[in-house]
Amino acid sequence: MKLAVVGGGSTYTPELIDGFARLRDVLPLAELVLVDPAPDRLRMVGGLARRIFARQGHPGRITWTDDLAAGIDGADAVLLQLRIGGQAARNQDETWPLECGCVGQETTGAGGLAKALRTVPVVLDIAERVRRTNPDAWIIDFTNPVGIVTRALLQAGHKAVGLCNVAIGFQRKFAALLGVAPDQVVLEHVGLNHLTWERSVRVAGEDVLPELLTEHADALAADLRLPRHVLDRLGTVPSYYLRYYYQHDAVVEELRGKPSRAAEVAAIEQQLLTLYADPALDEKPELLSRRGGAYYSEAAVALTSSLLADTGDTQVVNARNNGTLPFLPDDAVIEVPATVDATGATPLPVRPLEPLYAGLIAHVTAYEQLALDAALHGGRDRVFAALLSHPLIGQIDHADRLTDLLIAHNREHLTWA
Ligand code: G6P
Ligand code: MN
Repeated sequence: MKLAVVGGGSTYTPELIDGFARLRDVLPLAELVLVDPAPDRLRMVGGLARRIFARQGHPGRITWTDDLAAGIDGADAVLLQLRIGGQAARNQDETWPLECGCVGQETTGAGGLAKALRTVPVVLDIAERVRRTNPDAWIIDFTNPVGIVTRALLQAGHKAVGLCNVAIGFQRKFAALLGVAPDQVVLEHVGLNHLTWERSVRVAGEDVLPELLTEHADALAADLRLPRHVLDRLGTVPSYYLRYYYQHDAVVEELRGKPSRAAEVAAIEQQLLTLYADPALDEKPELLSRRGGAYYSEAAVALTSSLLADTGDTQVVNARNNGTLPFLPDDAVIEVPATVDATGATPLPVRPLEPLYAGLIAHVTAYEQLALDAALHGGRDRVFAALLSHPLIGQIDHADRLTDLLIAHNREHLTWA
């Protein structure tokens, strides 16, 4: 089996390689190609990738190239983990929305829209080339904003599934708190990418969420950076990204007073690349745990192997709604447990959702639809409409100002601007 990783020069890649090496029985890789426009990074990351495989006795061949056509040629699956404009563009996304008192984040709010506008056209172009080269290949999208990018891919008829590590992160966290193996823990995870809640947590068929929320609420709340009473009152576990909604103004204040996450990540990346360049290093360094991608590799291995081996097991992924959440359009992309087999990801039925969740999900889905419209067709009016529709923006003056800021900061990436 051949797998291509687009954005393979990312400092995340050793996380992925470590997973491929450990889980080689689940995903027998004969060839892995890292594709990236940055040759220096490819050499450093690729070199470490080879050493990780060698140390763990993985027989697969690792190569790298800056030529997309060569990289995807013959691939059975293509994993997308690219970042248009790098951490510099992310730094902008996290900064200019604060000027209007709006949250600055790479996937949520105005910054997330900017990222979608830069990313969707590039991803669609790559997907088109994959389809022409290998029509049977699967595209696994880890590129943010995953909900909008996956919706773009599915709408264009691609064989695509969107992936995020939030659900697998909760599964591992809950398993550790409960003292059970991760595969014993079954999440009732519902929502959109980066807008989800855990409604129940089953171990051997029994819902242990009430126990988690009484015995471990302090630890969970600290992890999510939410006050404990939020968990007590919801009776569910929201993802970390809900703090941008539930505590919007406080988060804006906090973000104004410190360096952006992009700046933090850029500093970590410098150190990581120095480590990767050391020929003695042959494992994923501890420092990588300071990035947000924990367990990404395990989720990616599970998803790729189920798509290619037609296993039909259940995984939390981003897939077409198709009536699963009846209050959303069929072509919305939702993040829920789904059956994964050779036909793709099919969401499992979802219990009727309380208005507290359904309302926000519907609101953000409408934004995602308008965001995709703006990403596909461009134009100031479409950007404005998407911003106006976002529940964290909503006011005409803010939407107008943010539209100007978004365009001004992203001109080089927007063909229409
Ligand atoms: C989590 C999210 C990803 C996001 C990452 C950011 O893993 O699920 O979608 O890209 O965090 O991590 P970073 O280290 O770049 O801040
Ligand atoms: Mn994610």
